[in-house]
Amino acid sequence: MLAAVGSAVGLGNMWRFSYLASEHGGAAFVVLYLGVTLLVGLPVMLAELVVGRGAQRSPIGALEHFGGPAWRPLGFVFVAAGFLILAYYSVIAGWTVRYALLALFGGFDATIAQRFGEIAEGADAFGFHLLFMAVTVGVVAIGVTRGIERTALVLMPLLFLLVCGLALYAATLRGASEGYTYYLSTDFSEILSREVLTVAAGQAFFSLSLGMGAMLTFASYLGRDQNLPNASLVIAGSDMLIAFLAGLVVFPLIFALGLSDQVSDSTVGALFITLPQAFAGMGLAGRVVGFLFFAALVVGALTSAISLLEVVVSATIDGWGWPRRRAALRMGLAIALLGAPAAWSLEVLDVMDHVANNVFLLGGGLALSLFVGWTMDDPVGEVRVGAEGVRWFFLWRTLLRFVVPAVLLFVLADAIPDTWRSLVGLLSGD
Ligand code: PHE
Repeated sequence: MLAAVGSAVGLGNMWRFSYLASEHGGAAFVVLYLGVTLLVGLPVMLAELVVGRGAQRSPIGALEHFGGPAWRPLGFVFVAAGFLILAYYSVIAGWTVRYALLALFGGFDATIAQRFGEIAEGADAFGFHLLFMAVTVGVVAIGVTRGIERTALVLMPLLFLLVCGLALYAATLRGASEGYTYYLSTDFSEILSREVLTVAAGQAFFSLSLGMGAMLTFASYLGRDQNLPNASLVIAGSDMLIAFLAGLVVFPLIFALGLSDQVSDSTVGALFITLPQAFAGMGLAGRVVGFLFFAALVVGALTSAISLLEVVVSATIDGWGWPRRRAALRMGLAIALLGAPAAWSLEVLDVMDHVANNVFLLGGGLALSLFVGWTMDDPVGEVRVGAEGVRWFFLWRTLLRFVVPAVLLFVLADAIPDTWRSLVGLLSGD
């Protein structure tokens, strides 16, 4: 369970959620996001948990177990998504390691904003990406109980404490109330567009680790006494809480230093350009708080990266009979190499992120909802196991059959052409 929470809580919460909210209607976006999570995210999460625990196998085998050979290819798509996401996710995680070290050793100074380019692109970025991948591979190679579960057991409470502590500290700053206003000033007209719905859905799937078999894989290690509906609520609830709290940290800090006009329009801007500048202006406090902040990011990124690699590794163990260590090492190496283009170019990274989110995760979620909603035998019976007496999920199958596919088709019709354009733009060099 904690490992699943660790998968969900990651860079997506800290790096993107608060930024998206401030851009798209503040509290209105938070409400929209909550709605999308409850009506679309949660049903898909429960679907993944049901398939994973029911089959007790990794994604490819699990889909085959319940759906026959026709559904195997979807498992391969999941594994491919794990490959793709981890390749660039680890590059961003590498930046956070670098920033944490910079903060600790007094490297946040007036030039930090200008140095983002050097840090984010090139050999340095690749080096820190390799370092981060090496740690991820190490944990996954050790195994599920001794590696993954133990890591989550220590790191997740730590992350939670760090974020709460930082939010309390941020509340004492001079600019706090302006920061909150900027983050949450409400504009309901903003959220009435397909574009913003697409953004919210993409963010929900990414943040909850849905649509690529991560939750499915962790659920395959669960016993039949586990209460799946409650588990899905706990995972989604913690994920939303941390995302919301991260905004309460980021914006007061930015406003305390009067840097609000520098929240640039790139998603990485708020976190990797403006915030370090704020820390640079805060003297010793900035050093300590900056270190703690980026350390929290590293922790979140690590537990998420572990889950991404575990999807790929468990599939190779099941499919090719490789021992765990070999699978972790070889797959980790392949993913590290695939990350090289993202380490050398922010533009490539951005396109990989688009493709992963808009095509793989939303598309994977759609396929999974159709599978569990329409073809799987008695999924409700499987949910009931271990959840006797829990009733709130009675609408689950209906949501999965009608609401989830409808919403996902609606946003995919927008997201796919959009992704295509960004891909063509990259390849034609505009
Ligand atoms: N949920 C993770 C985050 O918010 C990212 C992730 C996506 C992890 C998909 C696993 C699978 O950072």
